[in-house]
Amino acid sequence: MAAVIKTPAEMEKMRTSGKMAAEVLEMIGPYVVKGVTTEELDNICHDYIRNKLNAYPAPLNYHGFPKSICTSVNHVICHGIPGDKKLKDGDIINIDVTVRFDEDSTDPDHPNGYHGDTSKMFVVGKPSILAERLIRVTQECLYKAIRIVKPGTRLGDIGEIIQKHAESHNYSVVREYCGHGIGSTFHEDPQIVHYGKAGTGEVLEAGQCITIEPMINAGKKHCKLLKDDWTVVTKDRSLSAQWEHTLLITDDGVEVLTLRTDEDFPRVISHKE
Ligand code: MF3
Ligand code: CO
Ligand code: CO
Repeated sequence: MAAVIKTPAEMEKMRTSGKMAAEVLEMIGPYVVKGVTTEELDNICHDYIRNKLNAYPAPLNYHGFPKSICTSVNHVICHGIPGDKKLKDGDIINIDVTVRFDEDSTDPDHPNGYHGDTSKMFVVGKPSILAERLIRVTQECLYKAIRIVKPGTRLGDIGEIIQKHAESHNYSVVREYCGHGIGSTFHEDPQIVHYGKAGTGEVLEAGQCITIEPMINAGKKHCKLLKDDWTVVTKDRSLSAQWEHTLLITDDGVEVLTLRTDEDFPRVISHKE
């Protein structure tokens, strides 16, 4: 389980891909309204990624995934497949965007490149107080975890800080799906789980890129895979929320490669005094 360390040139490519993925989430916001179908959102993102960014939507055909983004509505935890169901008032939806891009890539039939992977929660009309709180606490879980990332941070440190915050609000952390290393491969080592014990697990090193993407349920932690073999839902049908960023571990902290303009959070955190 060797950590993949990026060269300075690769770090630059990760910055570019990260910015692109963030831009897709910024672009799609105004379209997430009552009456739109998740398939329409998928089409808009697909066209934007292919035609405007000249990049590739990494989920499309990834292990057979049929669409370009994941759209996970209400009690869907992750990997929701865009379809013809219309969004309605009060729905909450996670849109998960992964772009692959390399300006030096020449073969359009076998597009390679570096990945930017990020997701955010959107609300349609007025969500319930419970939904709003779940969404906020889940984003706090992500932000609390990012703030402790630097060389020497252990994966258990990340897991514990997320689990503690979620459980202090009586929410639960999904166990079966996790964050990951990321680079020229969509999902690289290590696995970044969102629960655990501080002081345990692998140690992060400068030059690694990882995602943190906590999935937090308002009810119990258990999930169920639907018959389409992709859609993951909460077993008790409680609401679920998720936020994801792609990160670069720097010499003294962390850089948020997928930061959006709508976020009140630093792009670079330095722990040097
Ligand atoms: N974007 C997801 C992640 O954060 C993975 C989606 S895989 C897909 O890791 F095949 F469902 F698209
Ligand atoms: Co991811
Ligand atoms: Co993702």
